[in-house]
Amino acid sequence: MVEAPVVTDRRSPQVVARENGLTISGATKTFATPEGTEVHALDHVDLQIRDGEFFVMLGPSGCGKTTLLRSIAGLETLDSGEIYLGRDRIDDRPAFSRPVNTVFQSYALFPHLTVAENIAFGLQMDRLPKAEIADRVAQMLTLVRLDGLGGRRPAQLSGGQQQRVALARALAKAPRVLLLDEPLAALDLKLRRGMQDELRRLQRTTGVTFVFVTHDQEEAISLGDRIAVFSQGRPAQVGTPEDLYERPVSRFVADFIGETTFLTVPVRPDGDGQVVQIADGPPVRLAAPAQVAADGTTTVGVRPERLVLDGSAPLIATGTLQQLVYMGTDLRIQVALADGTTLAVRVPPPFEGLALTPGPTLTAGPDPAHLHPLALEAA
Ligand SMILES: Nc1ncnc2c1ncn2[C@@H]1O[C@H](COP(=O)(O)OP(=O)(O)OP(=O)(O)O)[C@@H](O)[C@H]1O
Ligand SMILES: [Mg+2]
Repeated sequence: MVEAPVVTDRRSPQVVARENGLTISGATKTFATPEGTEVHALDHVDLQIRDGEFFVMLGPSGCGKTTLLRSIAGLETLDSGEIYLGRDRIDDRPAFSRPVNTVFQSYALFPHLTVAENIAFGLQMDRLPKAEIADRVAQMLTLVRLDGLGGRRPAQLSGGQQQRVALARALAKAPRVLLLDEPLAALDLKLRRGMQDELRRLQRTTGVTFVFVTHDQEEAISLGDRIAVFSQGRPAQVGTPEDLYERPVSRFVADFIGETTFLTVPVRPDGDGQVVQIADGPPVRLAAPAQVAADGTTTVGVRPERLVLDGSAPLIATGTLQQLVYMGTDLRIQVALADGTTLAVRVPPPFEGLALTPGPTLTAGPDPAHLHPLALEAA
C-alpha cells in the first residue's frame, strides 16, 4: 500500500489569513485635538478577521472602535499601517470602491424616500438594470422581514423597523464585509434583544463578514464568534466569548467582561507550579502561571458565580456572610474574609432549604481552575 504524501502548509498563519478575510496590520491614527493635545485613537492595531465571521469590537468610550471602523470603510485615513481584504490592499482605495458597507447607529435613512427607494439607492448609483433592482429590493425586504412595507417613508416606521431598512440598504449591494457601529444603541432593551437575534440570523443566512462595534459586553458575548476587547487604541485580548470570559489575560478584560472580584494575595512556587493563599485559607494551586510582584503577591480574579458555599468544592478561605440580595435569577452574597477583603458570591436557584443568615462563618470554595491569574498592569 502506498501512503498518501503528507502536505504541510508552511506558510505563517498571517499569510494564510491574508488570502481570505480582513487583515489590519499596524493601523495607527493620531488626532490633534482643538485643545492642542494629541489622542492616539489607534495604536498599532493588528487584527485578523475571518471570512464569514461575526466579529465584535468591544471597549469603553473613546478606545478607538469607531475610528477603526471608519478606517476600514475609507471614511478615515490611517497615519500608518495597512488594511487588506483577502490579498488586496484596500486602505489606499477611495471609500466607494471598497467592497464594504456601513450601518450607523443613527440609521441615516433618506427621509424623503420610501423604504424601497432607500434600499434601491446604492443599486441605482451603480446603474443596475431596473428589473434587477426591483428583484433585489424585494429579496432584501423579505430578508429583513419588512414585506409589504416598501412604500412607507422612514417616519412611518418604528425604530426597530428603521434599523431593518438600514440593514437591508447596506446588504443590498452584497458587500463582502458589513461594518456596524453600535447599530442597536437607540433601541429599548426588548427590541434590542429581538434585533440581536435578527442580526445573527442575517449574518448566518448571508454569510457576509460582520464587524460589529458595541460597548455592551452582554451584546458582544451573545453575538460574537470572536470578540476583540479594546483599551486605549488597541486590542487588549482577542478570542471567543468563552476565551475572554473563562481566561481573561488582564485585569482590564476580567473587569470589562462579566463580574470579577480581584484579590491581591501572597504567591509562592510549589513544585512545577505556584500556590496562592487567600486570607486564612489553605494553599491553592493555580491552574495557570501568575506574574509575581516585587512584594511577593499576585492578583487573581474570581467570578462570583464560580464560588460555592456548600462545601462541594475545595476550600479556599473562610469568611463571614455580610449581605444577601435576592436578584430573581440568583442570590448575591457578600462574604467578608479574615483579612478584611470582600468576596462576591452568586448562588443559583433553588433557594429553598438554603439556610443563609448574616453572621456565621462560612466556607467559600471555587474550582481552582476558575481562579484567574491576571497580568500585572498599571491601571
Ligand atoms: N476627528 C477627531 N478629532 C479629534 N479627536 C478625535 C476625532 N475622532 C475621534 N477622536 C478621539 O479619538 C479617540 C477615539 O475615538 P472613537 O470615536 O474611535 O472612540 P469609540 O471607541 O468609538 O468611542 P464611543 O464608544 O464613545 O463611540 C477619542 O479620544 C476621541 O475623542
Ligand atoms: Mg464610537
